[in-house]
Amino acid sequence: NTEVAVVGGKREHWGSRIGLILAMAGNAIGLGNFWRFPYQAAKNGGGAFMIPYFVAFLFMGIPLLIIEWAQGRYGGRYGHGTIGPMVYLQTKEKTGIKFARFYGALAGALALSVVVLLNSYYNHVIGWTLGYAWETVTGNYMPKDVDTGAYFVGYVQDPARVMVFWLITLVILWIITSRGIQKGLERLAKVAMPAIYVFALVLLVRALTLGSPVNPEWTPIKGLDYMWSPRWNELNWSATLAAAGQIFFTLSLGMGIIQNYASYLRDKDDIVTSAVATASLNEFAEVILAGTIVIPIAFTFLGTEGLKSGVGLSFIALPNVFREMVGGRLFGTLWFLLLFFAGITSSIAMFNYLTAFLEDEFGVERKKGARFVFGLYVITGLPVGLEPILTKTAEFAYLTELDNWVGTYFLVLLGLVEIIAAVWFFGDKGLEEINRGSYWKIPRWFYNLVMRAITPLFIAILLVFSTLDFVKAG
Ligand code: PHE
Repeated sequence: NTEVAVVGGKREHWGSRIGLILAMAGNAIGLGNFWRFPYQAAKNGGGAFMIPYFVAFLFMGIPLLIIEWAQGRYGGRYGHGTIGPMVYLQTKEKTGIKFARFYGALAGALALSVVVLLNSYYNHVIGWTLGYAWETVTGNYMPKDVDTGAYFVGYVQDPARVMVFWLITLVILWIITSRGIQKGLERLAKVAMPAIYVFALVLLVRALTLGSPVNPEWTPIKGLDYMWSPRWNELNWSATLAAAGQIFFTLSLGMGIIQNYASYLRDKDDIVTSAVATASLNEFAEVILAGTIVIPIAFTFLGTEGLKSGVGLSFIALPNVFREMVGGRLFGTLWFLLLFFAGITSSIAMFNYLTAFLEDEFGVERKKGARFVFGLYVITGLPVGLEPILTKTAEFAYLTELDNWVGTYFLVLLGLVEIIAAVWFFGDKGLEEINRGSYWKIPRWFYNLVMRAITPLFIAILLVFSTLDFVKAG
């Protein structure tokens, strides 16, 4: 099969522009948008969070995203789909081979840790969403005397449901990855992405027309107000760090997976416009859709104080409202299926990253590689799934620890390592690489001022303060 990438031979490419953009949007739009963003924003001051969020998006998110696309396409030209060799190729333009090897290996090792560790919990959360879609269809938590908090604790402590839905998730990822870029990943994106937007629009209308089951004062509009009123006085370091971290997470930056997807571009494919289109689709899904669905729905039940509850927002607060609202079973199911699709289309990027690593660097045939990754995910995910079952709590100490380390810290560190290779070691070639084939060209002043100075500085500051924060907390 000539379509499938082989070592030293022709790598597979995306089949169409729209397929590429949907796949990239699917990569970025994940649980980060619908599950992580609302509770991060709510916990960190709502409107006060949105200020650093947008600043980080413009000066760090967009430039780094474009740089990652270019880095990936460049690596793909030489038959590589993963970070280590990509960083090596760019670094050696400036430094000795020895240093370039070391630097590439560092980047590659960081990326491998991210894709393995992040997935060990992320795929469980995807599994819960599928499980909860099932719970909602069957109406299991609908009776009024069910406490949804206790119900969630019961769910995650039930080995049967946790393991079955998690394994279904892993099998789906495995099968799709086995089929390759065009027949697997691209086809999935073309079905799942439109579904996500349609489901989200339906839910958005429903969310805005809700009444509060608890307190008539708690209207959906007041929930929106909480998120959209800038409160400068509440702006603090921890909100700023959380906001910048969320930009990393939601755009899939510092993970290596944008580069992996970009490695299947053709050499003259547009980068700038496509990357901006992807980022816009992501922000629309996150800020407009997720923000207008989750925050108002949760607000009608919890009010401002309760909004700060965190991780359980989607699984504990929302079910309370689903069972009160007209058509709750239908809307609740749509919500959890939406989460499921969003999760799968992101997680598949990491599954493909590892498969491509085996394929490009070790010549392992794709089907075989995908089987290996499946096994690896089962092993690394098991402790996360077993934790609540064995400890009989739903504190998720291990999951939370992983999310703190990997979900914020590692990404920023890898982001810094790779951007230095792409804009400093690679020098002016970095700009040429971005602009080749691009419909919108990045001007030189922007490259020098923003991409080579402001963005790396932004990331470095973020890293320093995250470290301080970490040391303080630890
Ligand atoms: N951008 C993705 C999200 O928002 C990040 C991610 C990708 C996480 C792949 C896990 C796996 O969810």
